[in-house]
Amino acid sequence: MGVKRKIAVTGGCGYIGSHAMVDLILHGWDVFSIDSLVNSNEEVLEGIRSITGVPVRNYRIDLAASGAWHQLIEAEPDVVGVIHFAALKAVGDSVKFPMAYYDNNVNALLNTLRWMECAGIGSIIFSSSCTVYGASSELPVTEQNPFGIASSPYGRTKQIGEWILQDLATTGRCRAISLRYFNPAGAHPSAQIGESPRTPAQNLVPVITETAMGKRAGMTVYGKDYPTRDGTCIRDYVYIMDLARAHTLALERLLESSETPAFDAFNLGIGEGLTVLEMIHAFEKVSGQPLRYQIGARREGDMAAVYADSTKARQMLGWSPEGDVEKIMQTAWEWEKRRSNSG
Ligand code: NAD
Ligand code: WQD
Repeated sequence: MGVKRKIAVTGGCGYIGSHAMVDLILHGWDVFSIDSLVNSNEEVLEGIRSITGVPVRNYRIDLAASGAWHQLIEAEPDVVGVIHFAALKAVGDSVKFPMAYYDNNVNALLNTLRWMECAGIGSIIFSSSCTVYGASSELPVTEQNPFGIASSPYGRTKQIGEWILQDLATTGRCRAISLRYFNPAGAHPSAQIGESPRTPAQNLVPVITETAMGKRAGMTVYGKDYPTRDGTCIRDYVYIMDLARAHTLALERLLESSETPAFDAFNLGIGEGLTVLEMIHAFEKVSGQPLRYQIGARREGDMAAVYADSTKARQMLGWSPEGDVEKIMQTAWEWEKRRSNSG
């Protein structure tokens, strides 16, 4: 590649965005972040610099606020594509505060699209989620599964985001790829970056590592009476650096292949489900220490099993995820130890 082409990463200081920036930089892209830091902090930029050797700038802009994006037009000309991670993501909070979720997630996307139109940027990758399928009974879940009734306002913001992009793509004004993540987990192997939300963790892997670190007195396994091999829920955990890789591949496809549809969607899961107890045992094996957990009641809204058919991403993006549960647990544990010891 000659002159590096420039990509804007919204939510680049967050968990998935920071790992995606590393993969983009290592594959020759010039990147910058736009992040309000509502659920992150700029220390992550130092981690990215130390992994890649490349300094990365962040614009502290709330994309949901009208007009805040105007400064980007002059400050960052010649952007060729956007990867849009910026959103609030706590499912439970979205049930309690639906307005905050619709306001932030829908407006941040709309304003990003307004900026793109104004700046002549025609391509966007959108962070979607398996939650758009709702209580799908068809397993493994393919992209052909229709959207179901989402279990939360958060999930509906992802469905709305995809509809907005489909409608816009139909007009020919932008081209979009929606990436539907299953359960992202783990950290960069250097332990320089990982998941460190401002709000308390709710996802299984950080709950496990925080429990092992003694930040929590113990953890609860939500239900052991599901119709699965050990009674606990099955999910499709995808290693964060594999997930990151898929963004670079999707971007290359969007920008470099003329045959791609104006809107397309891909599932990103590895296609294998693991139970909660299997995850806990994998952690115990990797860390060499037993975990304090108790079996509790089911969590409202949880489905017994969700896992992806990711054939489309493998075939059309050339995606080949390599991280397994050991890699996830090893890197998540290294990251937890590092962030706990550094304050
Ligand atoms: P994250 O909270 O770590 O990262 C999101 C980033 O966006 C944060 O740094 C936050 O400060 C920023 N942000 C939020 N609203 C903003 C706004 N209005 N303007 C500017 N910045 C804003 O979350 P993540 O896990 O990295 O998720 C990234 C994306 O992937 C989100 O869209 C999320 O919904 C989606 N997703 C996440 C998961 C998951 O399990 N982590 C699964 C499926 C989809
Ligand atoms: C995984 C499994 C829990 C915590 C969520 C969102 C989804 C997507 C990914 C954004 C479940 C069990 C968990 C604990 C437990 N995010 N668990 N004890 O619910 O599959 O998906 O994140 O788009 O939309 O809903 O992920 O990590 O919360 O739970 O037993 O303390 O772990 O019941 O079976 P989930 P999770």
